[in-house]
Amino acid sequence: MKRIITYGTYDLLHWGHIRLLKRAKELGDYLIVVLSTDEFNAIKGKKSYHNYQERKMMLEAIRYVDLVVPEYRWEQKKEDIIKYQADVFVMGDDWAGRFDELSEIVEVRYLPRTEGISTTKIKNDLEK
Ligand code: CTP
Repeated sequence: MKRIITYGTYDLLHWGHIRLLKRAKELGDYLIVVLSTDEFNAIKGKKSYHNYQERKMMLEAIRYVDLVVPEYRWEQKKEDIIKYQADVFVMGDDWAGRFDELSEIVEVRYLPRTEGISTTKIKNDLEK
């Protein structure tokens, strides 16, 4: 069984998220999403609209997603990859090159982002 791991906040779930999750799942058999906790978002200077439990519940309802676990800190990726026996580490290409050092222990793949949509764009558009 090939296991895929990916990271994100997934606030205000949108079709760019779904397309990323669909393509990530197609790389293997089992998709793990490591989801930013509200505390970790605060460290990153972000505040999500939906809280962690709400975002987790929505991700768990997506057919491509098999497991959702919390992300607490930047440095946990190696531990997660080992603990969940991930074969492929997937991120959108807004992170291209940023996690190349993980390729010692996992296959690192950056998938093209979907043009024209993001959580930030939704928030900005709704403020107009
Ligand atoms: N993603 C994507 N295409 C988009 C938006 C996001 O492929 N249009 C991917 C990101 O590259 C990441 C995952 O979805 O791998 C989760 O992204 P996240 O940062 O939670 O969502 P964004 O919409 O990018 O949020 P923000 O605008 O707050 O950065």
